Amino acid sequence: MKHFSIDKIQGWERFFRANFVNSLSGFKPVSLIGTRDSNKIDNLGVFSNIVHIGANPACIGFINRPKEAAPHTLANIESSGFYTINHMHSDWLSKAHQASAKYPAEVSEFEAVGLTPVFKENFPAPFVGESHVQYALELSEIIPLKINNSFFVIGKLLHAFVDESFVSKDGLIDLSKASSLVSLGIDAYYLPSPVKRYAYAKYDRPSSEIEL
Ligand SMILES: Cc1cc2nc3c(=O)[nH]c(=O)nc-3n(C[C@H](O)[C@H](O)[C@H](O)COP(=O)(O)O)c2cc1C
Repeated sequence: MKHFSIDKIQGWERFFRANFVNSLSGFKPVSLIGTRDSNKIDNLGVFSNIVHIGANPACIGFINRPKEAAPHTLANIESSGFYTINHMHSDWLSKAHQASAKYPAEVSEFEAVGLTPVFKENFPAPFVGESHVQYALELSEIIPLKINNSFFVIGKLLHAFVDESFVSKDGLIDLSKASSLVSLGIDAYYLPSPVKRYAYAKYDRPSSEIEL
């Protein structure tokens, strides 16, 4: 294996460095975040640094880049307190990817990229109608990160919309059945396929497979 020191990595061209470092942490759950501003303009952005924080209370976090780089999602979440996260799929990937472009604040990115804003359960932020896995969050905390001026945004889960046929007997959502994409680096997308599933690991017994 080749060794890449941080001195070497720091010296690379910025996009090469971004692709390399961003790939190291692995495949990511790529989604569109839907928000609405105070003028009722709907916004979309592609986000892949999304992480499960806990199931009780059910909360999920994501990293928002510095405000100069990615201003609208964060500003809308700060002002409205609500947002949706919507899985992405291959049949409308080019539209979804286009939502990572920096559109002016007064442009509805749903309209600009050709995706359908859907409002339901009186939730104030738009869902992406084309998405097979959609969920809605209420802002809990925004933690500024000193190291690079990005933000860790934590939300409490309020609603989830998933076809029941994707939900297994014990609650695992089969995201490969839902054909949810994952991303790598800043622009590559993949479709994961199932490998194996195991019973809860205990030190006094060998691992045993369960049905996937
Ligand atoms: C595959 C992919 C993943 C991305 N992941 C993130 C992310 O996790 N956090 C982030 O701030 N921007 C991410 N971006 C960039 C945003 O989509 C982009 O900055 C977008 O314009 C943000 O929109 P906003 O200004 O409407 O918030 C990603 C872009 C792509 C293509």
